[in-house]
Amino acid sequence: MLKIKNLLVKVGEKVILNGIDLTVKSGEVVAVMGPNGSGKSTLAYAIAGHPKYQTSNKKEKNNWIIKIDGERIDDISPDLRAKEGLFLANQYPVAIFGLTVNSFLWQMYKKNRIAASKTPRNDAMSLVEFRKYVEELTNSLNLNLDLLKRSLNDGFSGGEKKKLEILQLLVFCPKYVILDEIDSGLDVDALKVIAQTVAKVAKEKKMGVLVITHYNRILKYLKADRVIVLEKGKIVKSGTGKLAEEIEVSGYKNND
Ligand SMILES: Nc1ncnc2c1ncn2[C@@H]1O[C@H](COP(=O)(O)OP(=O)(O)OP(=O)(O)O)[C@@H](O)[C@H]1O
Ligand SMILES: [Mg+2]
Repeated sequence: MLKIKNLLVKVGEKVILNGIDLTVKSGEVVAVMGPNGSGKSTLAYAIAGHPKYQTSNKKEKNNWIIKIDGERIDDISPDLRAKEGLFLANQYPVAIFGLTVNSFLWQMYKKNRIAASKTPRNDAMSLVEFRKYVEELTNSLNLNLDLLKRSLNDGFSGGEKKKLEILQLLVFCPKYVILDEIDSGLDVDALKVIAQTVAKVAKEKKMGVLVITHYNRILKYLKADRVIVLEKGKIVKSGTGKLAEEIEVSGYKNND
């Protein structure tokens, strides 16, 4: 279980998240919605350990704030959090010139396969086997194989970048994933393939999913077990998948 308790997040003196309690179980899909600027990406960054976001326990000073399967992770580096099985698919993926997708994925795999093999997720593959595996995954996402030889995200279209985040997810096979607006800017076919892929992995590998979105449409293929609404840094509402449908129709103001 990914467990978050009394999470307070500040940037400098500014409080952005003001006491968040949240759990995501293995295999569970939890959607996070909320108006622009409500703190959704901040929640994602804070869990992943972005150094700009200072986290603390709002009620019990010095106590833990984030745990993965019983292990505290809020006091370790982003790298080690990844090793514990956490993956964040970014709202704005960065480009790295000179590092090809192929080498990036291989390095990522080598670095994380020890952690990944703690669970029966990945047997160690040779480079040749790995390349073949990556090509299969790339095809399954309807992504052009040529992209694997290009610099990471350099000149990639918006949709290609989002698909590449999902390719990383498939390679890394995390225990818990946070998807920050993976659906924004995608065409209908890409949206469907991405959402269905994540839903399949969540089910087969019992991966927990925290999906940040503004729209119900991704949840048509990636069914949310729970929907929570953030506003001004606090959880103001929680419900079933139906809540996302209501928000789509009426917005955030008329959902009382
Ligand atoms: N590094 C930062 N420095 C200063 N303010 C920040 C920083 N990061 C976030 N904020 C502020 O915190 C608030 C929440 O931002 P956040 O990006 O988490 O919102 P969001 O819910 O993801 O919005 P959107 O739906 O537009 O993506 C905003 O007012 C934002 O300006
Ligand atoms: Mg955001």
